[in-house]
Amino acid sequence: MDCNMKGEDFDIQVSFRHRIRFTRGAFSLGNDLLSELLETRGHSKVLVFIENGLREHFPQLEGEIQDYFFDLNDFRLTGVEWLPGAEVAKRDDQVYQKAMSAIEQHHIDRHSYIIVIGGGAFLDVIGYAAATGHRGLRLVRFPTTTLSQDDSGVGVKNGINAFGKKNFIGSFAVPYAVVNDFQFLHTQPEQIRREGLIEAVKVALVKDGAFFSWLESHVEELRALEPLVLEEAVQRSAVHHARHIALGGDPFELGSSRPLDYGHWAAHKLEQLTDFELSHGEAVSVGLALDTLYAAKIGLLPEADAERVLKVVEGLGLPLWHEALELRDPNGKRRVFKGLEEFREHLGGELTVLLLEKLGTGIDAHEITEAVWEACAEELKERALATA
Ligand SMILES: NC(=O)c1ccc[n+]([C@@H]2O[C@H](COP(=O)([O-])OP(=O)(O)OC[C@H]3O[C@@H](n4cnc5c(N)ncnc54)[C@H](O)[C@@H]3O)[C@@H](O)[C@H]2O)c1
Ligand SMILES: [Zn+2]
Repeated sequence: MDCNMKGEDFDIQVSFRHRIRFTRGAFSLGNDLLSELLETRGHSKVLVFIENGLREHFPQLEGEIQDYFFDLNDFRLTGVEWLPGAEVAKRDDQVYQKAMSAIEQHHIDRHSYIIVIGGGAFLDVIGYAAATGHRGLRLVRFPTTTLSQDDSGVGVKNGINAFGKKNFIGSFAVPYAVVNDFQFLHTQPEQIRREGLIEAVKVALVKDGAFFSWLESHVEELRALEPLVLEEAVQRSAVHHARHIALGGDPFELGSSRPLDYGHWAAHKLEQLTDFELSHGEAVSVGLALDTLYAAKIGLLPEADAERVLKVVEGLGLPLWHEALELRDPNGKRRVFKGLEEFREHLGGELTVLLLEKLGTGIDAHEITEAVWEACAEELKERALATA
């Protein structure tokens, strides 16, 4: 027998099913969506994690979940665990550790299900526990904020922060399913409910000009948080995000083209510069406005189109500018530009940022001219201060 001293490559193909569902009142008796979604060979255990912040808005939720599973013979609800959510839950590994010990105490195994109900931060930390417990447990996500329903919750990432860096520890793990239950959408504070819409604007700008026009024509209802219009925006955005992840050719982000990160290089830096006082949605709103105006300034995007985008952002009551853009390092350079370097590093050396050439289509650019971008920041500052 020939012995190949050089070794050999084996391709391992693993396919995932990304199940995205929409409903209202998933745990109401008579709603079969969840029971039909979960596969079982009989007697699968189910452990539910809910973020504490939901208790005051949904005091009946735990009882509903108990009643729901009581009626299902093939499933056994082993517990409902309430834990802290929001960004603070990702700051260290305390919530993660609590989730892991619950997974251990309830004897959750790879035939069980973990259900997580909460905002994007809570989904991230429990998602990380689910991805690492027994090397990967089946997770059903119930996102409860606009941002997590229309973007992050339908994604395939999880994580917690470490070394002062967001999402430094975590994994790519396709959830078993994501259930966007619209009953959760309408209890968030109004501004948080609105902010998450920026991800719908973002995905419309990079994927679907007709969706952008729809958002534009419904901007007043969206600002007023008209429930059915909000839900339609969330649903269309969620499907676009999921479709890109499933069909875009790079679900685990190995390449450098990141259309879903449009406007995000500055946004991530602004969140950090403000010690996360600026929410993700607000930061993306500013970053998206700047990169859109930039595309017009370099002659890529018609100016009238850039103006339409800025009007939609303003119309939603979201910011075009923030004072953290003014922060400078000892050499007088705007500190936000460090975000470009960090993004370049993150992508493995070559900077790739998406710039719009049409509303609905972008191209990958490999360079940002700082002086032009600064002019955009100045213009948006004037505009923001004039309307303040
Ligand atoms: N995994 C990913 O791909 C991905 C992508 C983008 C963002 N994220 C992460 O998502 C997080 C932000 O998520 P978010 O915007 O959903 O905010 P969040 O999870 O921080 O929640 C915001 C606030 O809303 C509260 N809340 C949640 N649902 C509520 C409801 N239905 N009613 C009333 N209050 C409610 C929370 O308790 C919290 O105080 C960040 O940590 C960010 O890093 C992850
Ligand atoms: Zn985002």
